[in-house]
Amino acid sequence: MTTDLPGPPQEPVPSLLRPGARVFVAGHRGLVGSAVARRLTAEGHDVITCGRDRLDLRDAERTAAFLRRTHPDAVVLAAARVGGIMANSTYPVQFIEDNLRIQLSVIAGAHAAGTERLLFLGSSCIYPKLAPQPIPESALLTGPLEPTNEAYALAKIAGIVQIQSYRHQYGASYISAMPTNLYGPGDSFDLETSHVLPALIRRFHEARHRGAPAVTLWGSGNPRREFLHVDDLAAACVLLLERYDEDAPVNVGSGEDLTIRELASVVGDVTSYQGEVVWDTAKPDGTPRKLLDVSRLAALGFKPRIALREGIAGTYSWWLRQRGA
Ligand SMILES: NC(=O)c1ccc[n+]([C@@H]2O[C@H](COP(=O)([O-])OP(=O)(O)OC[C@H]3O[C@@H](n4cnc5c(N)ncnc54)[C@H](OP(=O)(O)O)[C@@H]3O)[C@@H](O)[C@H]2O)c1
Repeated sequence: MTTDLPGPPQEPVPSLLRPGARVFVAGHRGLVGSAVARRLTAEGHDVITCGRDRLDLRDAERTAAFLRRTHPDAVVLAAARVGGIMANSTYPVQFIEDNLRIQLSVIAGAHAAGTERLLFLGSSCIYPKLAPQPIPESALLTGPLEPTNEAYALAKIAGIVQIQSYRHQYGASYISAMPTNLYGPGDSFDLETSHVLPALIRRFHEARHRGAPAVTLWGSGNPRREFLHVDDLAAACVLLLERYDEDAPVNVGSGEDLTIRELASVVGDVTSYQGEVVWDTAKPDGTPRKLLDVSRLAALGFKPRIALREGIAGTYSWWLRQRGA
């Protein structure tokens, strides 16, 4: 008979973020920044914030002075001008200039202040329109971008290259993460600017309240999309700050996609909408599939915890509480 003997004790991997680190979360009132701030606080770190009313991050001098004065151990750059197709195509100047300026101020300011760790948040729109699916990080700069948000995507690509340049030239321990479509508490439910998931929740909820027999949605419902709860993203961000220190950006997603039709069915269930869904196939579908290859993040031990239905139900309850319903 053989007995399995325990192997030698595993050395814990030293964290690149010290316990109780002081972390400046830029954009702490946004969907991403608020979730990252919650997660860092829950893990015992000391979160530093400063709202846009007190510090416009496009102002390089004031941002540098703020970072010198507060001297954080780490920075999470989750401040950005963000918007849907409409806003991106109407205000491309603001999308490229505001984002470039925020990135220049915060990244250069953090380096000048001696900040050791910095996580820059980009977006999956940095990848070429016709990238292979699931999209690996190596697809960056291999083909033309989706024209509707080119200005925004190019600003984000400049941010990645800026981070890599600080690594190469100064040995800075700065990194980038590229999240998929996010949702969760803190999301915008404004029908003009919201992303697909909050828009669906709101449309189904309002249709149920009006007793509407049908809801009409754009396209065929066949495109496949990936969604990640923002609390899972926040956990991934903290893991990356603790464990990741390489040039390449890291995709952050759930690794699973579903059709918009399937998504609508989950949202219909969660909001108890009993009516019909009509697909307006005269409207464009967009890219047939958009899924990130998340193997690099998975290799660091990351697994999302929040199932889509559970996450949507939580987000719906959050929105109802916000409305005082
Ligand atoms: N949401 C998604 O599905 C998603 C997906 C992939 C990647 N991302 C990335 O994640 C990052 C954050 O996105 P988000 O969804 O959290 O956006 P968000 O909810 O719009 O939050 C952006 C934050 O940035 C702040 N901000 C904007 N301009 C500023 C300025 N000039 N000075 C100071 N603060 C400023 C905003 O301040 P106010 O509160 O004052 O407006 C807000 O708190 C972005 O880089 C985005 O590309 C998001």
